[in-house]
Amino acid sequence: MGGHRDTSTAETFHVPILVREVVELLVTDRRGVYVDATLGGGGHTRAILKELDSDGRVIGIDMDPEAIAAARAKLADDQRWVPVQARFSHIKDVVQEMGVSECTGVLADFGVSSHQIDRPQRGFSYLADGPLDMRMNPGVGTPASDLLQKLDEAELASIFHRYGEERMARKIARAIVAQRKMQPLAHTRDLAAIVESVVPGKHAVKSLARVFQALRIAVNEELCEIEAFLDAAFDVLKSKGRLVVISYHSLEDRLVKQFFRMKARGCICPPEAMMCTCGHQPEIHILTKKVVRASEDEIRQNPRARSAKLRAFEKV
Ligand SMILES: C[S@@+](CC[C@H](N)C(=O)[O-])C[C@H]1O[C@@H](n2cnc3c(N)ncnc32)[C@H](O)[C@@H]1O
Repeated sequence: MGGHRDTSTAETFHVPILVREVVELLVTDRRGVYVDATLGGGGHTRAILKELDSDGRVIGIDMDPEAIAAARAKLADDQRWVPVQARFSHIKDVVQEMGVSECTGVLADFGVSSHQIDRPQRGFSYLADGPLDMRMNPGVGTPASDLLQKLDEAELASIFHRYGEERMARKIARAIVAQRKMQPLAHTRDLAAIVESVVPGKHAVKSLARVFQALRIAVNEELCEIEAFLDAAFDVLKSKGRLVVISYHSLEDRLVKQFFRMKARGCICPPEAMMCTCGHQPEIHILTKKVVRASEDEIRQNPRARSAKLRAFEKV
């Protein structure tokens, strides 16, 4: 992911995606308070700050300490923002602790940063050998190697199937269980070798991507995080406040789409009802009737933008 192998500076940490579109949809008040719930290298935060007056504010959340450090370095001269190391599902607590009662806009750019993928030590990629970790915050939680060691065959298969939509999920899970009886899988190369042994020839590359994605989602409980985040982000928004979300695969986007649909619903009477008695009103106005995609030009410069889908709403 991302075309950037040099991850040593804040500038090359991650190339932000759909920046113009994010800013146009998100920033409605130059003096507002915004949350960038996935700070990463601070690329989107920097773009938002450019649009704000001297009393506009951004709270930047990330659970990865390396992201917090990189963004802090990149935006060190700007007093209008503050980084917070936290899970984005805790956005309500973060905002409250900042003494903010309501936010003007919230942005989430899900998934992993190029920095996380490109650093072998983080264990996210099958392209380079490293410890099988995959935790976005290496300080907490269970590394991928432990999951591979302790889950049974059915649980592993379910992860590869549900989170990676991998057709050979069962076979791969079986091979992992056989292998770990001899030696625990400690390195990305160990897992990659198993996938390559089960999935023949040119199909192996896609399976590698799917298995690594699935494991990453499980390690970081990504889908539960997104569900909790969407609810909490809605709650912290003021009336007319906006949520902008970028997702990168169908599992993420499905949760976003379902949430938007539920909140945009008017009447919730049963379909057989002759007339509306619920009086339910839509809670949001969807701003992106059609999902927003990156231009060919952006995709050429940054291939990771190809899978990005942006959706946004305004709270009623
Ligand atoms: C795609 S990157 C964001 C890049 C950022 N927009 C930029 O401009 O550099 C996603 C970031 O979200 C963080 N992240 C993912 N899940 C998270 C969660 N549940 N809580 C907090 N941060 C999370 C990752 O650590 C990563 O840095």
